[in-house]
Amino acid sequence: MTVVVAIDGPAGVGKSTVARRVAAQLGVPYLDTGSMYRAVAWKALEEDLDPADGLAMSRLIAGLHFELRPGNDEAEVVVDGAAPGVQLRTPRVDAATSRVAVHPAVRSWLVAKQREFAAREGAVVEGRDIGTVVFPETPHKFYLDAPLEIRAERRLRQLAGRECGDRGRLLSEMRARDERDIRRSASPLRRDETYELIDTSSGDADQVAARILRSVRAAATGP
Ligand code: DC
Repeated sequence: MTVVVAIDGPAGVGKSTVARRVAAQLGVPYLDTGSMYRAVAWKALEEDLDPADGLAMSRLIAGLHFELRPGNDEAEVVVDGAAPGVQLRTPRVDAATSRVAVHPAVRSWLVAKQREFAAREGAVVEGRDIGTVVFPETPHKFYLDAPLEIRAERRLRQLAGRECGDRGRLLSEMRARDERDIRRSASPLRRDETYELIDTSSGDADQVAARILRSVRAAATGP
């Protein structure tokens, strides 16, 4: 039986670190779905296309060769033979990605790839709609949350030394991204009662990962 663990929540909440650790402990691949949306946005910017233009994005993906190449601890996104890597993490791509992610055609195209990936050997899958839309049937759903200020501080530390602007700008950009992710009509960021809610504002990634592992293992062994 393959295990699929869904980890959802807003930007900067610590999902990636936690998801990576849970995947390593469970011995299943880790899939960062945000990097898939980021890769489409990156390609759109490379081609000088407007990420908000749904028709242009549908045309873009129709001609795109998209691959999830298995890596050591996570799948690497490869678009038309190029691996954009850290270029996916710039503030410019951050902003473009939440615009690309509103288009239902882009979402359904990527969701199919996410399901195909996890069907092989299970996965810990991180994103915004993993427990609501991509794998609604999994019993292992976790929603990580923390106040915006704490998430922005975390993001600033991650961006240290790279192009990131100032703290105030980062806060307002994160707020705008959260708003777009929550308010969009296609698969918005939300949680229901099937999720275990975890506040990550106190406690480090190891503690959060340990809590998730306890829940997953308890559910697997039953009462
Ligand atoms: O997790 P992240 O910051 O890398 O996500 C980048 C953007 O992609 C974010 O604005 C939300 C969007 N996204 C999404 O809509 N659905 C997902 N499953 C993952 C990310």
